[in-house]
Amino acid sequence: MSFQVTVLPSGRAYSVDPDETLLAAAIRQGIGLPYGCKDGACGSCKSKLVEGQVTHGEHQSKALSAEEEAQGFVLTCCARPHTDCTVEARTVPGAGEFPVLKLPSRVITKALPAPDVAVIKLQLPANQQLQYRAGQYVEFILRDGARRSYSMANAPSRLGTPPAIELHIRHMPGGKFTDHVFSALKEKDILRMEGPFGSFFLREDSDKPIVLLASGTGFAPIKAIVERLQDEGITRPVHLYWGCRSRSDLYLDDWARQTAEALPSLTYVPVLSDAKPEDGWTGRTGLVHQAVMADLPDLSRHQVYACGAPIMVESAQRDFVAQRGLPAEEFYADAFTSEADKHPA
Ligand SMILES: Cc1cc2nc3c(=O)[nH]c(=O)nc-3n(C[C@H](O)[C@H](O)[C@H](O)COP(=O)(O)OP(=O)(O)OC[C@H]3O[C@@H](n4cnc5c(N)ncnc54)[C@H](O)[C@@H]3O)c2cc1C
Ligand code: FES
Repeated sequence: MSFQVTVLPSGRAYSVDPDETLLAAAIRQGIGLPYGCKDGACGSCKSKLVEGQVTHGEHQSKALSAEEEAQGFVLTCCARPHTDCTVEARTVPGAGEFPVLKLPSRVITKALPAPDVAVIKLQLPANQQLQYRAGQYVEFILRDGARRSYSMANAPSRLGTPPAIELHIRHMPGGKFTDHVFSALKEKDILRMEGPFGSFFLREDSDKPIVLLASGTGFAPIKAIVERLQDEGITRPVHLYWGCRSRSDLYLDDWARQTAEALPSLTYVPVLSDAKPEDGWTGRTGLVHQAVMADLPDLSRHQVYACGAPIMVESAQRDFVAQRGLPAEEFYADAFTSEADKHPA
């Protein structure tokens, strides 16, 4: 027996199969709900349960605290209904626009532009067209059924012929998938994937100035968004901040500098948190979100798109809203959560 879920204020309704989460059913039926990790770790899918009953699966307390749960908030990625439900959630136009496909993909190239960053290009099948929005991600389906998410670094208009997506993958030592990428993965290998997923993409119905904020390989979807801005001739002012530890971690610094030269509306500010004397770095240092706060004292009319380490995303969201007047609903993010975040020490 399935249950009916109504989303307020849009009034959109959809059905949820037994044992399905509110979010999985919404993705299956193209209902654009906000989400990121799909796994109870990031909090992007937090919504108010106005009516009905759900069972909540395992999740991180930083994604949904006991207090928030007591106030009736739920994570749609972890909540399974027992009754018909009504939830209050922003719907995200365009989030469910393209079909979610399972595809084989073939490694065309694997490059290591920094010691712990792999840029891989994956050829897509000619007979299944992957459509997505710049900023979205795909999931690799590993042999044991585990899944790992990676954001497309090229805009959909730049897939090329034959179509290929570009991914930026940071090595997490001891990690199930990235250990394989950095040791054994080679050209012509086949990887199974599913996508597109995610509600992190440019809101093109706004004319507000944009802050793009990346840490590490969080640069991948930000690059895709910049390409999208370029391809669409969008001239909204864009401040791109990219935070890394040391100079060698800025693996596409040249690309960012050249793009900023070509796009008068784009300013690019790289920020190093751990510059070494041998870096000879004369640029900005410190935490990347604090560099934004130093440069932009008033964010009340901006939109912010942040991507990368969960700690950076959380700090930016908290401080931009509390200290720089950013409207909470104008903060869009994908936190790159991993198993380490799901099993904190
Ligand atoms: C929406 C989204 C988009 C993403 N996009 C990107 C991207 O574009 N680029 C990118 O580099 N990453 C991205 N990520 C992160 C990526 O999905 C993986 O989480 C990351 O690459 C690690 O995968 P792994 O299998 O190598 O490591 P995992 O197996 O997840 O392990 C990660 C770390 O945790 C440790 N660990 C494993 N199990 C446990 C445990 N039980 N207890 C404690 N520690 C544990 C491991 O030793 C390792 O150091 C994204 C994540 C999300 C949610
Ligand atoms: S906590 Fe639900 S999508 Fe991340």
